[in-house]
Amino acid sequence: MPYPDLPSLADAFIPPGERTPEQAASAAVTERLIADLEAADTYVFGVPMYNFSVPAVFKSWVDRIVLPGRTFDPDTREGKLTGKDVTVITARGGSYAPGTPRAPFDFQEPWIRAALEQVGLRDIRFLHAEMTLAHSMPKLAQFKQLAEESRARALRTIEELHVPVG
Ligand SMILES: Cc1cc2nc3c(=O)[nH]c(=O)nc-3n(C[C@H](O)[C@H](O)[C@H](O)COP(=O)(O)O)c2cc1C
Repeated sequence: MPYPDLPSLADAFIPPGERTPEQAASAAVTERLIADLEAADTYVFGVPMYNFSVPAVFKSWVDRIVLPGRTFDPDTREGKLTGKDVTVITARGGSYAPGTPRAPFDFQEPWIRAALEQVGLRDIRFLHAEMTLAHSMPKLAQFKQLAEESRARALRTIEELHVPVG
């Protein structure tokens, strides 16, 4: 997926007959991504934490699907993807749970909430599998049990919710 910039987003607003081949290809990528979202009632996102936030490819996807006039009303800012059931499952090398020293560095969950709320996705459910690096980084080895507990908790919740993963 090519990373979107302002001209490539503007491509979506140029009438189909007037687009260059590059603009048509770019607009088709955006349209396919949005059509997938419109067709589904249940969304499950798997998002690792990269530098306290999201990987560039997820950011790039958000930059395409947050499209004025298509996924939200630019006048009212009302999102159009309503009535969806949204679960975000994250994997994090460390822990950002409330009360931990790194809790203020969690720019992932708040950013995803803010980004997706623009297109109408609300009540987003987050499941975090934390401390995943405890198994590979010697200095985090003391947190292996926390990692196991966090993973088990996430898996239990997935089962209870019947979230379709895999
Ligand atoms: C580029 C990069 C940046 C990362 N940044 C963080 C970070 O800021 N905080 C953290 O807890 N883990 C960080 N990690 C670790 C990943 O979140 C962790 O390994 C996670 O389990 C990756 O998920 P995956 O195994 O599904 O790819 C980073 C990993 C990479 C590759």
